[in-house]
Amino acid sequence: MKVAIIGASGKSGRFLVMECLAKRHEVVGVCRPASVAKLAEFADRITIVAGHASDRAVIRRAVKGCDGVITIIVAPDGRGSTYATETVRNVLAEAADARLVFSGSQGASQIRDGETRSLRNRLELTFGRWIAWVLNVANISDMLASTELIYASTTRWTVVRAPWLTEGESQGMPVTSALGDPVVSANEVRRVDFAKYMVAALEDESLVRQAPAIARARR
Ligand SMILES: NC(=O)c1ccc[n+]([C@@H]2O[C@H](COP(=O)([O-])OP(=O)(O)OC[C@H]3O[C@@H](n4cnc5c(N)ncnc54)[C@H](OP(=O)(O)O)[C@@H]3O)[C@@H](O)[C@H]2O)c1
Repeated sequence: MKVAIIGASGKSGRFLVMECLAKRHEVVGVCRPASVAKLAEFADRITIVAGHASDRAVIRRAVKGCDGVITIIVAPDGRGSTYATETVRNVLAEAADARLVFSGSQGASQIRDGETRSLRNRLELTFGRWIAWVLNVANISDMLASTELIYASTTRWTVVRAPWLTEGESQGMPVTSALGDPVVSANEVRRVDFAKYMVAALEDESLVRQAPAIARARR
């Protein structure tokens, strides 16, 4: 496949690049101009598009001819930021025919019809909103709105809702469960395994228009 990774230079993005290359996918990585150097080790193996994901022309250039697009959504820049919804809107519009996989979090992604949040999940969301607002580092409402946009889309999307992401060796492919299930809500996933799940999702038709909540594989 030819795969665009929106957010390739981030902590998870680099694992996504490595996993795509291991699967012999052709990779286009989008990152902010200031972050191009973070992708130096891949520079001769991937195409790098430098720019902001909120810029539709950047996304148009990056996803051209791609079969799949993986998007790491962030809601930076504080209280008024609409970066996450702009990024999602651009991807949904410019890559409407591609297989789309988005990152999500169990705390800051919108729930779907029929789902309820666990107490822990509600507390995380409330606390996360408050901390982000006080420190003015992110807009959790923007994250929630971005996943709502995806759920309403008729494209072939998947939102992978992760618990805490941690560094370290692979512990195997994460398992999937219902949001709020203690298996997923009190758990963590290694970034390397989060990336493996997202890349595998590109080729898993059973995950189309699904928002799996994932957890570390049982050992
Ligand atoms: N961290 C967790 O524990 C956790 C838990 C559950 C779900 N998730 C989800 O996993 C995804 C990735 O998280 P992560 O921790 O791996 O993120 P990350 O690597 O820190 O950042 C992801 C991307 O956001 C970009 N970014 C950061 N600040 C930005 C800004 N001000 N303007 C534009 N782009 C900016 C980064 O680009 P640069 O390389 O240029 O900085 C990077 O490409 C998110 O969707 C998150 O909701 C994370």
